[in-house]
Amino acid sequence: MKRIQTALAALAFLVTGCTTEKNPMDVFINDLMSKMTLQEKIGQLNQQVAGEIVTGSAQDTKIGHLVEEGKIGSVLNIKGVDNIRALQQIAVEKSRLGIPIIVGMDVIHGFETQFPIPLGLAATWDLEGIQQSARIAAQEASANGVAWTFSPMVDICIDSRWGRQAEGAGEDPFLGSRIAEAMVTGYQGTDPNTFAEDEIMACVKHFALYGAAEAGRDYNTVDMSRLRMYNQYLPPYKAAIEAGAGSVMSSFNIVDGQPSTANHWLLTDLLRKEWNFGGFVVTDYASIDEMVKHGIYPDKQHNAAMALKAGTDMDMVARAFLETLEQSVKEGLVKESEIDQACRRVLEAKYRLGLFDDPYRYCKPERAVGSTYTKEYRRVARQLTAESLVLLKNENNLLPLEKKGTIALIGPLAETRTDISGSWAVSQTPEKYSTLREGLDRALEGKAILLCTQGCNLLNDAEAQKITAKGHGNEPIPYVNKQEACQQALSVARQADVIICAMGENAWMNGEGTSRASVEMPEPQQELLKALKQTGKPIVLLNFAGRATALKWESENIQSILQCWYGSESGDAIADVIFGDFNPQGKLTVSMPQCTGQLPLYYNHLNTGRPVADDAKGYRIFASNYIDVRNGALYPFGYGLSYTTYTYSDIQLSHTEMPVSGNITASIIVQNTGKRPGYEIVQLYLRDKFASISRPVKELKGFRRIHLNAGESKTVTFEITPELLKFYNNNLQHVIEPGEFDLMIGPNSRDVKTVTFNVK
Ligand code: BGC
Repeated sequence: MKRIQTALAALAFLVTGCTTEKNPMDVFINDLMSKMTLQEKIGQLNQQVAGEIVTGSAQDTKIGHLVEEGKIGSVLNIKGVDNIRALQQIAVEKSRLGIPIIVGMDVIHGFETQFPIPLGLAATWDLEGIQQSARIAAQEASANGVAWTFSPMVDICIDSRWGRQAEGAGEDPFLGSRIAEAMVTGYQGTDPNTFAEDEIMACVKHFALYGAAEAGRDYNTVDMSRLRMYNQYLPPYKAAIEAGAGSVMSSFNIVDGQPSTANHWLLTDLLRKEWNFGGFVVTDYASIDEMVKHGIYPDKQHNAAMALKAGTDMDMVARAFLETLEQSVKEGLVKESEIDQACRRVLEAKYRLGLFDDPYRYCKPERAVGSTYTKEYRRVARQLTAESLVLLKNENNLLPLEKKGTIALIGPLAETRTDISGSWAVSQTPEKYSTLREGLDRALEGKAILLCTQGCNLLNDAEAQKITAKGHGNEPIPYVNKQEACQQALSVARQADVIICAMGENAWMNGEGTSRASVEMPEPQQELLKALKQTGKPIVLLNFAGRATALKWESENIQSILQCWYGSESGDAIADVIFGDFNPQGKLTVSMPQCTGQLPLYYNHLNTGRPVADDAKGYRIFASNYIDVRNGALYPFGYGLSYTTYTYSDIQLSHTEMPVSGNITASIIVQNTGKRPGYEIVQLYLRDKFASISRPVKELKGFRRIHLNAGESKTVTFEITPELLKFYNNNLQHVIEPGEFDLMIGPNSRDVKTVTFNVK
């Protein structure tokens, strides 16, 4: 029936020509909407949860009857291809008009094959790899009933107290934008108007500015100048939309005093009018209800009306549209045409997804068999996980370790299976994944003895430790007797030649609702590290985290530190790096502070009128610094070591003057001066030295990931285009201002070579 409708619509298109209002999609949707009652249209705007996954407050999850009555347009948190198919069958066969539902899910860093958390994927700086991870996630998800993912999360975050730093690409708008594009293309393919059956719709979130929550406390207030929004926070959302993302999720926070969900400037003036977004907007989880607590209106009805009028099209979970919009039309609070518009946008997404042609295209059980967690997907995940690991310190080349003697593996993350894959692994099957211990053991092939013990608790607070297991079927990390666990660890350590500590955060110490007031190593873990240091044995610290943590003591006392970001293949990938089968290459996309008090900390800050250099020796009074800590990061943005070394030549500019509408090039020779082949991430930064507004001390404007064999040199050339020099001025015009620019190239944001050029 639907197939015939589409064919007729296509025919109408061919007959009537290419006018937009007569394109097949419009013809089809006009026809469908002409048959819909107001309540059925409102139904399309309603998204409900099923009970299989929990990502927010408890809700009534018996939704079959609502689907049958045409009161649900989309469902989330439903798992299992058979379940999804059964629900789709109700929509298609039992509801009056047979309109299929869209099933959405948080496929954030993989479906079943779990890649590193997004902050870790970003640390690869490997755009092709990141795109491929999203592609694989789409292939697995689409074979298991899911047509729509709530990803990419592109919130810039400069304050790692916020646990959701884990879910984004870090602190940089340029890199964040490139990653956003790669993710959208990976999920959706290159044509946003049609989806193959193994492509799914992306949802850019959380629109907007959610990552700027005050004091890093989740869901907290955001207040920001337009200038900062446009220059620092908005670019990744815009890039994702330009890449064709089919949907946008509003954020929990306020923007200019109004909740994003009901912010007309944000959802209509900016998103639709300025950026030409043509997809639909869904709220975040029950965020229309939260408007009561934000103090906008005391009742559902007025909040729902405000959200709809602002540009929200779909209400996630709150049932506010479902329960109030009909009444609001009667009372003249909203117009029926406003409901029509939102309904049309939702139906368009369904049309583009091909659901009217084949409502079951994403839920064919036969497709699900053998298409998830395949050998090939796992190979790619292992590779990307290895690429994501960031070597922060490697005194006397302790790493890589030889496969011999006795190795101690100690720490709360050593043997967890459920925490290894990361916080947003909502569709994980942990029984298939390896623990870190198993990964290391496999790599050792019996050539060395591996002794393992937990050693300490994750946190001192037993209750908090239990809550961090709240994730998707996670097993709590056992709460152990402190003295006994420590004695056991020391006895294991004394038998070993080298100690590997698997510590930091478990999966649910980062992600949603996991703010930390202190981002240092949790106390019981640092205490154990201190005790282990007393044994005099060399220590490798694997720091698992979903944020920039502060490792000052560790950096001064532990020989080698490797930053790890989870993923189902972590056990094998970490072993690959530890034993030297893979040369580390990851680089941080966040500034790691010396201590929590430095936060927010980010490399692309303004200079202030009283700047103090990051590496200044001591405290200076009446200058912009602290009495007790120097300004710089412990490990800066872009930083990461390798088992080989690289040198950078001086920079060659093609010209030292650049016309406002012309290009120049900057080149540098990078040489691998060590003994191993490796990938180096060469970074370009620019600084507009004098402008109508104060500009950052440096901004990433390009990067290349290059492979160099031992001894090999390569010339890396960057083209400097006017676009790269533009910024939003006080009138929010995107301009290039003539004058002097610094151009910097280096292995990270700190250790750069600098030249100057003039724009005329
Ligand atoms: C989160 C979103 C997520 C949604 C659906 C919310 O609590 O903020 O990121 O996509 O739940 O699970």
